[in-house]
Amino acid sequence: MESRFERDDFERIADLGNAQSAHAVASRQAAPLGLLLSLASVGRVLRSGAYMSSIVSVAAVTKRYKSGLIAIDAVNLEIAKGEIFALLGPNGAGKTTLIGVICGIVSMTSGQILVDGHDIAREYRAARSKVGLVPQEIALDIFATVWNTVRFSRRLFGRGANDAYIELLLRDLSLWEKRDSRVIELSGGMKRRVMIAKALSHEPDVLFLDEPTAGVDVNLRRDMWAL
Ligand SMILES: Nc1ncnc2c1ncn2[C@@H]1O[C@H](COP(=O)(O)OP(=O)(O)O)[C@@H](O)[C@H]1O
Ligand SMILES: [Mg+2]
Repeated sequence: MESRFERDDFERIADLGNAQSAHAVASRQAAPLGLLLSLASVGRVLRSGAYMSSIVSVAAVTKRYKSGLIAIDAVNLEIAKGEIFALLGPNGAGKTTLIGVICGIVSMTSGQILVDGHDIAREYRAARSKVGLVPQEIALDIFATVWNTVRFSRRLFGRGANDAYIELLLRDLSLWEKRDSRVIELSGGMKRRVMIAKALSHEPDVLFLDEPTAGVDVNLRRDMWAL
């Protein structure tokens, strides 16, 4: 897994702020995180080859809910391969909506999104198979075992069984000893890690964590970043 999500290259942060307008994404970046961003720029120059190929490309994406509320307004975003990207913003800024749109869970009102070159509207399956999502809320079958939960999730994406990979995943997430436990028997942090294992079960190229450290204790938070 380490090879998939290299964090040492550079990190980037965008701030949806109160942003109804996400031109804000670009402009707000500069303010509080100047140093980090300038480091990111250095990283980008050094890796200019990699920068050319975005894993996620969001162009002028707007989402207007049926209620009329515009949750995200003309958002533009490029996420490079190997990049760790943090989307910041207060509650209601539209973070979950944007992630939902990229993952194909929320339909966008206008705009275009490519995931590894696949248009999420036209090539839905190809695009969807590239992303893993750890949603904000924990949603698991509490009577299923850890092993079956993660294994089944992989099959939902039409990937062939690969028990060696599932084992590696559970070991990496310190869940191997709990593989035969039912979800109901796990602690909150363990459940969260099961959610992460599920999201990685089909070997996605991009992993989205929505509020990854919410309701997670300090130790687990550290462990999660170490991952
Ligand atoms: N299904 C929905 N229908 C209508 N409005 C929604 C829906 N989901 C979210 N919203 C609204 O969109 C805005 C952005 O929400 P959300 O994307 O969850 O923000 P964040 O994740 O940044 O806290 C909020 O005002 C929220 O009430
Ligand atoms: Mg949210």
